[in-house]
Amino acid sequence: MKISRGKLPLSIMVIVICAIAFAGVIFTEDLRALTEEKEKARSAALSDDTIDEDKIDFDPNECSVTKGMWVFNSSIEPPYTDETCPYVDTQMSCAKNGRPDSDYLHWEWQLDDCNLPRFDPVAVLEKLRGKRLMFVGDSLQRGQWQSFVCLVQSHIPPEEKSMNRSRPLSVFSAKGYNATIEFYWAPFLVESNSDLHIVTDTRKRILRIDSISKHAQHWIGVDILVFNTYVWWMSGLRMKSLWGSFANDLEGFEELDAVVAYRLALKTWANWVDSTINPNTTRIFFTTMSPTHMRSADWNHKNGIRCYNETRPVMKRGYWGSGSDKRFMEVVSSVVGRMKVPVNFINITQLSEYRIDGHATVYTEITGEVLTAEEKANPKKYADCIHWCLPGVPDTWNKIFYAYL
Ligand SMILES: *[C@@H]1O[C@H](CO)[C@@H](O)[C@H](O)[C@H]1NC(C)=O
Ligand SMILES: *[C@@H]1O[C@H](CO)[C@@H](O)[C@H](O)[C@H]1NC(C)=O
Ligand SMILES: *[C@@H]1O[C@H](CO)[C@@H](O)[C@H](O)[C@H]1NC(C)=O
Ligand SMILES: *[C@@H]1O[C@H](CO)[C@@H](O)[C@H](O)[C@H]1NC(C)=O
Ligand SMILES: *[C@@H]1O[C@H](CO)[C@@H](O)[C@H](O)[C@H]1NC(C)=O
Ligand SMILES: *[C@@H]1O[C@H](CO)[C@@H](O)[C@H](O)[C@H]1NC(C)=O
Repeated sequence: MKISRGKLPLSIMVIVICAIAFAGVIFTEDLRALTEEKEKARSAALSDDTIDEDKIDFDPNECSVTKGMWVFNSSIEPPYTDETCPYVDTQMSCAKNGRPDSDYLHWEWQLDDCNLPRFDPVAVLEKLRGKRLMFVGDSLQRGQWQSFVCLVQSHIPPEEKSMNRSRPLSVFSAKGYNATIEFYWAPFLVESNSDLHIVTDTRKRILRIDSISKHAQHWIGVDILVFNTYVWWMSGLRMKSLWGSFANDLEGFEELDAVVAYRLALKTWANWVDSTINPNTTRIFFTTMSPTHMRSADWNHKNGIRCYNETRPVMKRGYWGSGSDKRFMEVVSSVVGRMKVPVNFINITQLSEYRIDGHATVYTEITGEVLTAEEKANPKKYADCIHWCLPGVPDTWNKIFYAYL
């Protein structure tokens, strides 16, 4: 399948690329041989992150995870690689796909006022004992899920873990802990005609903005739920939306402004949470929007090709580009603000905004195949500035998630 840039607006092309990449991932479920020894050695080599004596230990009521800076430290090694962790999709296996630079692996997010705790895999597994943790959302959320699994999996002996990739639900099991770390694919959270079989033509996507139970029935009984939804709303189009009892009638849709449709969908989600979830037994998290870096002019790189070839984060404090639409953030804040059940934000937007260097760009795949040398040489067409390399930025999202756990 070829995408002609000339024929489609960029934003549509981006969504199409996401969709195609996702479709490809599903069919490339090759679980590679484990290299346990290597992984263990790496983990052992991993020392504590920098602790600043002047800062207080992390306390969710005192510390803002959005205020801080990325600090380069070449002795920081990621606790896994895309070779040692067999669960990283080709889409995000940047090093394996030939990414030549590695500085992007050595940045640490340091908060202004507090020390973020080190991600302690064994403590995490203890916390999850007898529990189900489920990430729900789109391909960015799938990246966070894979990062999370990779951060803990080397601490589980091979015979005590398993991975079952399927759709919409994928399950990583840690048998000794009787724990699962799951991913449920629901890119809009609410139902749409593009959930299981992705409709690549964004103009033909139709949402059921008041229907969620088909997905949500799979979320019942989970102990910790982590949601997201953002990038699929960014097609630049009005969203074809259905509500009420249009059981089989896709013709009954109305076109709504994306922000309006997003608000209605999130309210549907919020109502489900409030009416179904017992906050005494279930914790709810929401990962805020993951920024896209499609306009290099945003960070004053006039001749850049999106985020292609970027090897350093933006260092300008408070930098915010056009790939994070604040209107969507406001919808999330206002809808969640009215909920009964408490929702913890994993507010990753600001810290990820800086990381123009963290995306997969051309070190990714299309329709299940790693880009060829020829395709790699054509970043204008192929550079993915939505998804993140693993290891990489989503590991920091999980460090924040861990701090709240
Ligand atoms: C760099 O990271 C290493 C390992 O985490 C740590 O021991 C060292 O103190 C850090 N250096 C600086 C300058 O923060
Ligand atoms: C395993 O965890 C599930 C919940 O995820 C629980 O229902 C079950 O009782 C647990 N089994 C054991 C043997 O602890
Ligand atoms: C994997 O998951 C699918 C769908 O949830 C299920 O039908 C299948 O039995 C599972 N396989 C294993 C080996 O658990
Ligand atoms: C949650 O726990 C509190 C305090 O123990 C109790 O009053 C409340 O009824 C519980 N809520 C639910 C939904 O079980
Ligand atoms: C990208 O970086 C490589 C290596 O530094 C360089 O050879 C190439 O010209 C750069 N490409 C663009 C389009 O900037
Ligand atoms: C996330 O943090 C940003 C600041 O970086 C803030 O503007 C936004 O309101 C926060 N989002 C939520 C949902 O709390």
